[in-house]
Amino acid sequence: MTILNELHQDHINLNKLLVILRHKVEKLRSGEHPNFGLMGDVVEYISTYADAYHHPREDRMYEYLRGRSDNLDLAIDDCIAQHRHLKKLGEELCESVDSILHDAVMPMDEFTDKLAAFVEEQSTHLNFEEGSLFPLVQGVATENDWATLNNDLPSVEDPLFGEKQAARYAELYQELLVDFNND
Ligand SMILES: [Fe+2]
Ligand SMILES: [Fe+2]
Repeated sequence: MTILNELHQDHINLNKLLVILRHKVEKLRSGEHPNFGLMGDVVEYISTYADAYHHPREDRMYEYLRGRSDNLDLAIDDCIAQHRHLKKLGEELCESVDSILHDAVMPMDEFTDKLAAFVEEQSTHLNFEEGSLFPLVQGVATENDWATLNNDLPSVEDPLFGEKQAARYAELYQELLVDFNND
């Protein structure tokens, strides 16, 4: 079940970033201005990693297993709709951060609500997959399926992207820890 373990590890990493973004939401709500450059990098990282790599791998795994049970099919439909919605939220949030960085006037309440919605929806999505969808997947997939999926969905489809994203993650996480400890 390599694939599922890798997707699970992605969830753990993404969740660590979401915890820090949630802390940023609290800071914003209390009237403080966080480091927008760094926040923008984190949001962009999450969106890029999730939309360009993590969700497409999941989508292919789900499509391969479609038709095995009604519950699974319904959960897959929900999940794919969530992927689409998260992509839109991420794009909108990246645009908002960009405009703030370019000194556009944006009410902070409005921005904070957008950031909060992004964090909560990402987090609800991770919990839905971990708590509902992955168990359904595990219930129907056989050893043969995992062998096929592990072959069809190699962990690094684009080695450059994979390596770059891994390095970027480590770098961002370090920066975030420093920023977090300075708060
Ligand atoms: Fe997902
Ligand atoms: Fe996921």
